[in-house]
Amino acid sequence: MLNKAIAAEMQVSIQYMWQHVQWSGVKGFAVKDELENIAKQEMKHAEMIAERLFYLGGIPTTKPDPIFVRENLKDMIEQNMKDEENAIKLYKQIIERARKEGDETTNRLFREIMQQEEDHHDTFSTLDEEI
Ligand SMILES: [Fe+2]
Ligand SMILES: [Fe+2]
Repeated sequence: MLNKAIAAEMQVSIQYMWQHVQWSGVKGFAVKDELENIAKQEMKHAEMIAERLFYLGGIPTTKPDPIFVRENLKDMIEQNMKDEENAIKLYKQIIERARKEGDETTNRLFREIMQQEEDHHDTFSTLDEEI
């Protein structure tokens, strides 16, 4: 489960960073900095989860999930909303599992990360209404 999370975090980190690079037009200008910020947060998530996995005796995957940069801003934002929804779903499962196993640290880590994913989801859904 932690490697699934790492693969997803690497995916969105690269995805948002390349979306940040490939911006165009007025609307693209308005969102490019936020895409960079969120990309960096996702890379930090990948790092934190990898640290935890390694501590628990696992080896972090180096393979991101398939990356979808998309061609226009609307498609990018809608793709990103889906990816954030999937992350939230997976992290709820991880929190539940960690709770059952009495793993407080993993539980706390994913609560913290999930809160940021909810912020990202909120950002992308708000942008989606305007684009
Ligand atoms: Fe993340
Ligand atoms: Fe996110």
